[in-house]
Amino acid sequence: VTDAARGPAAKMAAPARLCRCLLPLLLAAMGAGAAAGTPGTAGCGCSASRAAGDGREEAAQRYSAAAAAGSGRSGGQGPMVLIPAGVFTMGTQEPQIQQDGEGPARRVRLGSFYMDQYEVSNRDFESFVNATGYVTEAEKFGDSFVFEGMLSEAVKADIHQAVAAAPWWLPVKGASWRHPEGPGSSISSRMDHPVLHVSWNDALAFCRWAGKRLPTEAEWEYGCRGGLESRLFPWGNKLQPKGQHYANIWQGEFPTNNTAEDGYKGTAPVITESQNGLGTDFSPNRVTMWLLSSLPPQQGPPSGTDRVKKGGSYMCHKSYCYRYRCAARSQNTPDSSASNLGFRCAASSAPGPR
Ligand SMILES: *[C@@H]1O[C@H](CO)[C@@H](O)[C@H](O)[C@H]1NC(C)=O
Ligand SMILES: *[C@@H]1O[C@H](CO)[C@@H](O)[C@H](O)[C@H]1NC(C)=O
Repeated sequence: VTDAARGPAAKMAAPARLCRCLLPLLLAAMGAGAAAGTPGTAGCGCSASRAAGDGREEAAQRYSAAAAAGSGRSGGQGPMVLIPAGVFTMGTQEPQIQQDGEGPARRVRLGSFYMDQYEVSNRDFESFVNATGYVTEAEKFGDSFVFEGMLSEAVKADIHQAVAAAPWWLPVKGASWRHPEGPGSSISSRMDHPVLHVSWNDALAFCRWAGKRLPTEAEWEYGCRGGLESRLFPWGNKLQPKGQHYANIWQGEFPTNNTAEDGYKGTAPVITESQNGLGTDFSPNRVTMWLLSSLPPQQGPPSGTDRVKKGGSYMCHKSYCYRYRCAARSQNTPDSSASNLGFRCAASSAPGPR
């Protein structure tokens, strides 16, 4: 793409991006709400809070101990896990969100591949930007979507644009990976947290720089399932085995009351103690959605430009976004970014040192 083409295209893409980005959320609101038999969400009165660690002490301690144990990664090269070749059941016969195309269940065979053990962190992404001077799409567009519950009253007072059906998403001028809640916010206390506000295009650029690629949808789901057949979550069918939190999702009533019982109102550090059967870290600290590459031929439509998103986020609640299941999927345009969207990379062969 030439610079001449990029300028006007980028300007025109902004409004389209605004609407397209929200479509999956609308679908989620309708689909999951109907499936769960719960009413939709009421008006949003979230109080601003983004800091980690104001939830239950025990959970917070577990996360931070795990984060400390894993420090020492550098150069944008987190560890990768070899996922062995195998056959698994992808999708489900019991789709929870019909419009997303979660079904049917089908057997899919995969060769072995490597998957990042953790999501790409702010530190990883900063290494990439330091080395390349890369500018993300959110930075070029000049805005990105931020969950209202994370914004200060001052930032909110400046925004006069919202989408009626999903009023908790606000386009914030100046929001980017460096400033996740807009100007004045910073990642300095969150270098081990997943990088946010990266588009599919940005994620791909990072992975290529690291000598990797984005995972396919099948690879992501295979990694998520961790060797368990036909389970809802990476660890089984129960959301909270023995009352423990295995994922960083929303507790309380969305979007007005985030009780942060799992220890986090927003993202949590990418590094955790526990892994699933394949050694990929899919629990208990799944924090953001993961961007995926274009679909492999046996699972995807032959044409189209949207990209698949898999996984849940700290904003996910069964009542409106039951997407933290392995079979769940939604879509986004390649240039969309948001405050709950991160990624991890994959590779076909062992990555060398950079
Ligand atoms: C990126 O560069 C800045 C400025 O030189 C430096 O302070 C920072 O530590 C670098 N980040 C990483 C992850 O290397
Ligand atoms: C939020 O939910 C918790 C748990 O249900 C409740 O104890 C608390 O009072 C609620 N807070 C507000 C502000 O509604």
